[in-house]
Amino acid sequence: MSTLSGTSMSRRTVVKGAVATGIAAALGRVPAFAADALPMLTRAIPSTGEQLPVIGIGTNAFDVTAADELATRKDVLQNLPLLGGRLVDTARGYGRSEEVIGQLVAELGNRKSLFLATKTPMAGDLSNPQAVVDESFKRLRTDYIDLMEIHNFYGTDALMPVLKEYKQAKKLRYIGATTSFEPQYPQLLEVMRKHPLDFIQVNFSIDARLSAKEILPLAKEKGIAVLINMPLGGRRGSFMPKLADKPLPAWASEIDATSWAQLMLKYNLSQPGVTAVIPGTTIMAHLRDNQQAGRGRLPDAAMRKRIEDLWASFG
Ligand SMILES: NC(=O)c1ccc[n+]([C@@H]2O[C@H](COP(=O)([O-])OP(=O)(O)OC[C@H]3O[C@@H](n4cnc5c(N)ncnc54)[C@H](OP(=O)(O)O)[C@@H]3O)[C@@H](O)[C@H]2O)c1
Repeated sequence: MSTLSGTSMSRRTVVKGAVATGIAAALGRVPAFAADALPMLTRAIPSTGEQLPVIGIGTNAFDVTAADELATRKDVLQNLPLLGGRLVDTARGYGRSEEVIGQLVAELGNRKSLFLATKTPMAGDLSNPQAVVDESFKRLRTDYIDLMEIHNFYGTDALMPVLKEYKQAKKLRYIGATTSFEPQYPQLLEVMRKHPLDFIQVNFSIDARLSAKEILPLAKEKGIAVLINMPLGGRRGSFMPKLADKPLPAWASEIDATSWAQLMLKYNLSQPGVTAVIPGTTIMAHLRDNQQAGRGRLPDAAMRKRIEDLWASFG
């Protein structure tokens, strides 16, 4: 049996949504997905209680200059909030990604409907740490950043005091730390214990589950929000092509999943402690697909096991 877990949506809301879908179907206005009529799930950021939609986007492939590539990314940034999402994750380390987002969001004029998360650099001179952090405000063309995280622990001691100071000054709304490398998990645990973090960001997917052992439970215990990076296996090693020729199991409908991406994102979202996932998305078709994973039912423990067993059967 599937359940809703850790979300702001009640069973009554689900039933209401399902009834609305049925009525729409009877009237011939059939939505693209049955779960369309359901609201986007949100979860509370523990340090403030602010609600965040559970599916954001990752932008490590926003390092582009060609007009057609900028146009597809502009579509994604325009439609993310229209589809119910809000969180855009970038980093200084993603080439021009911060600048591209700053430019496109300025053109769209939708800064206030987005939750912009970025990261401190992974290399370079840190002798003036304020100037290093200030650079992100310039690139993103904003006077406040929703979340800034220390990236892969480069310069934690030099940069963390600036993050804390800027949070006090309300230039940063939230601060955190992030990695996607298992050998850095001990450092992540140490930073979580040592600093008052609002967020961490860490990798987790059906194919890489180690962070669920210690990191997610510690985040839950300490009231730290968790963003999941590389939820589809990572841009360089995504497992989506491996699933492309396999039929989606019929039981995916029990959690309102109509694609492999939705099944896997819902699997990630059902892990205890997770606040939101940030699949890397550069095209509208994937944005729509992924945002849909934030609606409807999520796996319970039995469904999670079913998904894990299916994955294991693929070898
Ligand atoms: N903190 C860190 O150290 C760290 C490390 C890695 C990543 N990150 C962040 O996490 C984000 C996510 O990680 P990631 O982008 O490396 O990997 P990912 O989200 O696991 O996978 C992205 C890949 O999946 C494809 N994809 C997305 N939606 C799909 C769908 N519905 N159906 C089929 N394919 C789909 C993407 O293609 P399209 O481009 O065509 O949509 C891309 O090739 C990054 O963008 C970045 O913001 C952070």
